[in-house]
Amino acid sequence: MAILLFLFFTSILSISYSSPLPVNASGNISARRQAGCGTGNPVDDCWRCDPCWADNRQRLADCAIGFGRNAIGGKGGRTYVVTDPGDEDPANPAPGTLRYGLVQDEPLWIIFACNMTIRPKRELVVSSHKTVDGRGASVVVGEGGACFTVRNRSNVIIHGITIRGCRPAPKSSARTGHLSDGDGVSIFGARDVWVDRCTLEDCADGLVDVIAASTGVTVSNCLLTNHNKAMLLGHNDGYEDDRAMRVTVAFNRFGPGLVQRMPRCRFGVFHVVNNDYVNWGKYAIGGSASPTILSRGNRFCAGKKKEVTKRDGDPPKSEWQKWNWISDGDLMFNGAFFTASGGPGAEVKAPSFAKPASFVAPMTASAGALSCSKGSLC
Ligand SMILES: *[C@@H]1O[C@H](CO)[C@@H](O)[C@H](O)[C@H]1NC(C)=O
Ligand SMILES: *[C@@H]1O[C@H](CO)[C@@H](O)[C@H](O)[C@H]1NC(C)=O
Ligand SMILES: *[C@@H]1O[C@H](CO)[C@@H](O)[C@H](O)[C@H]1NC(C)=O
Ligand SMILES: *[C@@H]1O[C@H](CO)[C@@H](O)[C@H](O)[C@H]1NC(C)=O
Repeated sequence: MAILLFLFFTSILSISYSSPLPVNASGNISARRQAGCGTGNPVDDCWRCDPCWADNRQRLADCAIGFGRNAIGGKGGRTYVVTDPGDEDPANPAPGTLRYGLVQDEPLWIIFACNMTIRPKRELVVSSHKTVDGRGASVVVGEGGACFTVRNRSNVIIHGITIRGCRPAPKSSARTGHLSDGDGVSIFGARDVWVDRCTLEDCADGLVDVIAASTGVTVSNCLLTNHNKAMLLGHNDGYEDDRAMRVTVAFNRFGPGLVQRMPRCRFGVFHVVNNDYVNWGKYAIGGSASPTILSRGNRFCAGKKKEVTKRDGDPPKSEWQKWNWISDGDLMFNGAFFTASGGPGAEVKAPSFAKPASFVAPMTASAGALSCSKGSLC
């Protein structure tokens, strides 16, 4: 009982926890913990302890974890600075706009000259080898416009962007266009994509949807709020190519104000690790079509609805009992419970970066886009 109470208070109040801080005598540990680095979050600790982050932006490309860890984005490419928040003519984007950078063939590390709000008139189609790096500016994409799409491309990093109010938009052009359905980030037939430290809310469709056999994807350190269907991983029970999907969802904060799909999975292998769940309206983690789900070291705080899990489409128990849905080291509060099934196959082995659930509070405290200034810790 004493141990349970201890775990309860350390994780709810995060007043003290056994420190995962790296030993580094030259750093001021308490200052760094305040700044959010040195918390044990392996992605943040990889770059946030560097006050010169703005001179070493491309280091971020080596900081991904999980299935999306090979996403190098625009590493090795030139820096492209967005100076113009406009999107006057999506078919012929003007130099200085975000869209112009995103459609170039060469690798680019895209940064922003100042705070800006971008309302894309058509979906923002991202080509291969691009990093969209919002650090140092407050960048909002959406606000009634369309948002990001990665289609049949690879090596994309989207970091530090607030993506909200994304709405459907007409085709971008007869040749490359498709109707966007209003996702925040739509990842379709793509591989090696990493979405990190984005703030996502209130879009017409999903906040981050990963479909059509996309694989090698990580969504980390994001803050997802005020939305119904948060994250769809695999879109159709008949689309067996989704067996190839490998997606990691780690260090995110889900809620408040979310209803379902955190995430909703089909066919592939999904690692849901060290996330903080602040309530859910219907369910948190769900799926259909026999997905393999490892829920490891998450913190689930239930509201009215207590069950974390949902097998969509109400398959018979004889069927879903064979699906590998594992809860390993999750912390449950306020009556939350996970209905496990199947067994631990090779694919559900805990990833090496996973930390105990008692560290989730400090590791996700600043989830979402950060406010960073040049020359100081971010
Ligand atoms: C220790 O921290 C300082 C300041 O954050 C950093 O510059 C240095 O590279 C770190 N050293 C090691 C060994 O991690
Ligand atoms: C370390 O940082 C804390 C918080 O910013 C500050 O109060 C303290 O004086 C610093 N300690 C040293 C030795 O610099
Ligand atoms: C940019 O946005 C940040 C965060 O909202 C704010 O603190 C800062 O003052 C803004 N900078 C300018 C120049 O408006
Ligand atoms: C994506 O690739 C698939 C398979 O190669 C192809 O059928 C589809 O037309 C492509 N879609 C786009 C938008 O390029």
